[in-house]
Amino acid sequence: MIKYLGSKRTLIPVLSQLGQASGAKTALDLFTGTTRVAQAFKKQGMTVTASDVASYAECFGKTWIELDGESVNQGELAEALAELESLPGIDGYFTQKFCVEARYFQPKNGERVDAIRERIEADYRDSWMYYPLLTSLILGADRVDSTTGIQMAFLKGWASRSGNRLELRDPELLPGVGRSIRGDALEIVKDLPAVDLAYLDPPYNQHRYFSNYHIWESLVRWDKPDTYGIANKRLDARDAEMKSPFNSKKTMSKALAQLVDDLKCDTMVLSYNNESWLSRDDLMDIASKRGHVEILDFDFKRYVGSQIGVFNKAGERVGNPGAKRNIEHIVIAGEKQTVKRMLASIK
Ligand SMILES: C[S@@+](CC[C@H](N)C(=O)[O-])C[C@H]1O[C@@H](n2cnc3c(N)ncnc32)[C@H](O)[C@@H]1O
Repeated sequence: MIKYLGSKRTLIPVLSQLGQASGAKTALDLFTGTTRVAQAFKKQGMTVTASDVASYAECFGKTWIELDGESVNQGELAEALAELESLPGIDGYFTQKFCVEARYFQPKNGERVDAIRERIEADYRDSWMYYPLLTSLILGADRVDSTTGIQMAFLKGWASRSGNRLELRDPELLPGVGRSIRGDALEIVKDLPAVDLAYLDPPYNQHRYFSNYHIWESLVRWDKPDTYGIANKRLDARDAEMKSPFNSKKTMSKALAQLVDDLKCDTMVLSYNNESWLSRDDLMDIASKRGHVEILDFDFKRYVGSQIGVFNKAGERVGNPGAKRNIEHIVIAGEKQTVKRMLASIK
């Protein structure tokens, strides 16, 4: 999995448990990013739809959510990966933009990306392997980058991992079927069929994923856009239509309320962070449109309590969530009995 801001890596065990306790058979992950949460639901046997505005997220979704790992020929994928691995490098767009003009990767690895990406486009565009191969390339490149995890800037000196040889990684497909969609959550939610469980994990602040991960966006689109600035971001990263209403304090609350209204689901789970624009009361207000609401609080990796207080590991109440902590909220809303059952599964 790639390094990704706001990724729910540490909350996966809890979200899986909540998913299971909800009894859902169908699920929607509307801001799927790395697809981690969608994958967790798929592993529990749910039929999952994953969506996001980013092209790389769509690519991950086509790989891990849409494909049934048991019905495709994984040997064929392994052969394709071995053939791509053996290609000699090419000094192309990626090398020039992201290794010479800007220094996100060492040129020897950039040349490998150019060669492999060109071959994927030429030989696999119409193959079921197209997205798994792209995913494999992104996974390999992410391991040898020279950033702190976002592509707003690169490190002054090379990160030590960037000296390693880029290696394609087996994407490890999952059994089961699903769907991957690219689009604005506010738009696509109107056309999606009803699901048992919807998970929302919108951006928490003004930092835009489109600019933070512009290299993955360009690598998937392979449209070789002009770039600007020291970071060599895509020119269209400046366009107004690339701005998400979830990235602005002015529009966030209204956009989320609209989305929650338009959802067609029995149970909703929403992730949010206490360092963001919406208060706990705002979240309660917005979520209450979907029925009974409970909020769980997590102090980064650690569960610290629900709205009734903070608990220690033995389940004893030890206080209230501290105001200054960076707390991840998980808001659960829906039919009271289901919400209570989900809550009970965590304690
Ligand atoms: C907090 S991240 C989600 C992280 C994800 N749950 C994970 O674990 O990897 C927010 C995601 O929302 C996406 N996004 C931003 N605005 C959006 C919009 N209007 N519609 C759909 N997705 C959007 C971003 O591309 C980003 O992947």
